[in-house]
Amino acid sequence: MKPIEIAKGIYDVGVQDWNISDFHGYSTPFGTSYNAFLIVDEKIALIDTVKAEFTDELMANIARVVDPKKIDLVVSNHTEMDHSGSLPKVVHRIGDKTPVFCSKMGEKNLSRHFPGRLNLRPVASGEELSLGRNTITFLETRMLHWPDSMFSYLKEQRVLFSSDAFGQHYSGFEKYDDVIGDEIMPHAKKYFANILLLYAPLILKLIDKVAEMGLAIDMICPDHGILWRRDPKKITDAYARWSRQEPAAKAVVVYDSMWHSTEKMADALAAGLYDGGMAVRPMSLKKWHRSDVMTEVLDAAVVAVGSPTLNNGLFPTVADFLTYMKGLKPQNKIGAGFGSYGWSGESVAQIAEILESAGFALPEKGPKIQYVPEAEALLQCFEFGRKLAKRTGANR
Ligand code: FEO
Repeated sequence: MKPIEIAKGIYDVGVQDWNISDFHGYSTPFGTSYNAFLIVDEKIALIDTVKAEFTDELMANIARVVDPKKIDLVVSNHTEMDHSGSLPKVVHRIGDKTPVFCSKMGEKNLSRHFPGRLNLRPVASGEELSLGRNTITFLETRMLHWPDSMFSYLKEQRVLFSSDAFGQHYSGFEKYDDVIGDEIMPHAKKYFANILLLYAPLILKLIDKVAEMGLAIDMICPDHGILWRRDPKKITDAYARWSRQEPAAKAVVVYDSMWHSTEKMADALAAGLYDGGMAVRPMSLKKWHRSDVMTEVLDAAVVAVGSPTLNNGLFPTVADFLTYMKGLKPQNKIGAGFGSYGWSGESVAQIAEILESAGFALPEKGPKIQYVPEAEALLQCFEFGRKLAKRTGANR
């Protein structure tokens, strides 16, 4: 796309990845973008690069603004390959000695990715770099979400280049929050739930730190998706809310089924949760991707997980989901297992064990039903749903 001047002398030279549908295990039906920014000042700076296969497109975008050889320096806010994959080739085309500013951990990680190929200039958090009319302040944001992550802030124009933070896996011609409107929020929520949730406690600390520093922000430019210019506070407030993980009166019933028995149990349990006052949607792992379920888990008070017993263990999709969810460490949730079985019936206990080890509260023992649930068993599941709802204080 033709580079857009997003602020005075600042151009978005990034690329759209319309066709990516799986971003390391996260479903991206709307694709994504790899945003990169060119600051044209007395010195010309390139903030971040793109995935390796988009190198030519990035260079062509830059060339529509300036001759790439005129770029004086590159800033690498994050080492992950969707932002650094093209870095060695880009630097080679600009000039092999071009300095690449990065965090101290960025120096370490970029060296491990591209040994001997980059002229790295590690910077300390708070260090400034003048480009002429604009000054970049580097802010280390270690473990948000990699050890090397940092923000770059332009104080004169109050623009924050936030790397992955505040991003969304969304590819589109809409460039700004005020153009796309609220439609972008589910994408931002999904991004948070699947990429950043594990680091929620650090995000709360970072938000406090930014408030203490009194950083005025007119525009947030993440490395994925749209830019926040009309209301940057909307996304920072959402991050604070999601990071606090205050549960809503909402339940997720996630399950898989072999012969519809666990499915029937899930539907009855969901009806009981609803009757008990909770918003709820049963989510079959045959239909829903793990990352979509995780997005719903983010603000749920109850997560009920159902699996039949297969070969003395969990159904593989359920095991996959539990591993994924456990890694993201959601907090403040009630969990429960349930499921059908033929003869051995280990799945419900195995689910409970995993949920417990992931920090869920398990106040009620989940139902397990042999073979096919009849009316009485389904009533038991319904009542179980009501009991779980009651545990959250929900009321209808
Ligand atoms: Fe968009 Fe952590 O890379």
